Amino acid sequence: MKTKELTNTIKALFAGDKGLLAMDESIPTCNKRFEEAGIPQTIEYRRAYRELIVTAPNLGKHISGAILFDETIHQSTKDGILFIDMLKKQGIVPGIKVDEGTTDLAGFPGEKITMGLDGLKERLANYYNMGARFAKWRAVINISPVLPSRGCIEANMHALARYAALCQEAGIVPIVEPEVLMDGPHDLKKCFDVTIRVQHVLFDQLFAQNVNLKWVILKPNMVLPGLSNPKPASVDKVAEATVTCLLQSVPAAVPGVAFLSGGQSAEAATAHLNAMHVKFKGKLPWALTFSFARAIQQPALEIWKGKDENVAEAQKILVHRASLDNAARRGEYNPEMEHDLNA
Ligand code: G3H
Repeated sequence: MKTKELTNTIKALFAGDKGLLAMDESIPTCNKRFEEAGIPQTIEYRRAYRELIVTAPNLGKHISGAILFDETIHQSTKDGILFIDMLKKQGIVPGIKVDEGTTDLAGFPGEKITMGLDGLKERLANYYNMGARFAKWRAVINISPVLPSRGCIEANMHALARYAALCQEAGIVPIVEPEVLMDGPHDLKKCFDVTIRVQHVLFDQLFAQNVNLKWVILKPNMVLPGLSNPKPASVDKVAEATVTCLLQSVPAAVPGVAFLSGGQSAEAATAHLNAMHVKFKGKLPWALTFSFARAIQQPALEIWKGKDENVAEAQKILVHRASLDNAARRGEYNPEMEHDLNA
């Protein structure tokens, strides 16, 4: 096993106050975001958008790792520099999403299973040779009055553990992402209960599959009320519930936790991360950072609109957002910083 390489990757990803940028939207997801922003949904627009991101000046000051999608890892800037090389030039470790999306889980109406284990060993070897040093696999768990089922949790966490073992064998650090979705009217307590249950099964499966926790990154949801719950939870309450849930389920051997944003606004995701650091400073056994997609990219995407003349402004907003998440990782974010582009 490439143990030195795995350790170096972990060190690089958690250096300073940096976090991760998820820019690994599948083609349908990226097209959906483009459609909502009035941007044409073509391969060239997707390439141009990813070029905007990887060439954003100073992105590497705030971002330690970027997760790419298979289409993107093969693409280059218009000057012919592979995106993966552009990231390395910025001091950003390239990562790759290796799951193949979700499908209905047979026998469990309303639930999903993530695909992609077949042929994964060979795909990981190829990605390693291309320069990817970490990977991501996302499992989704739905909440309803009767979900999630035990069958769905166990099947998905087993797949995550099999993927993680294959990654470590290939010299690639696995990000394990068991996302409890925000959809629905459930309250914060329900999200807490489901999240803790899912994570207990995940760590049991990682143990069963001989995955070494010191080379694993957990990418969880924050503990939040459902999107259609009319009663919002305060920033402090979310921070408290989220960290309490993690402290009760994530072993201290895990080096780092990097949150997904899950459909929260960029401001809310940043404020929640900040409050966790303010409240629990010095009391956390793992690094606690971000691995946002929408909460970093969305404001920039809306400014870009697919137009060359908006690239510089969109890049500025993107890097500003990442810098606010950096500040949140230190517990030094303040909503007033939202308006100070030089913050
Ligand atoms: O798998 C999901 C992404 O990596 C994180 O996306 O921050 O928009 O939830 P999000």
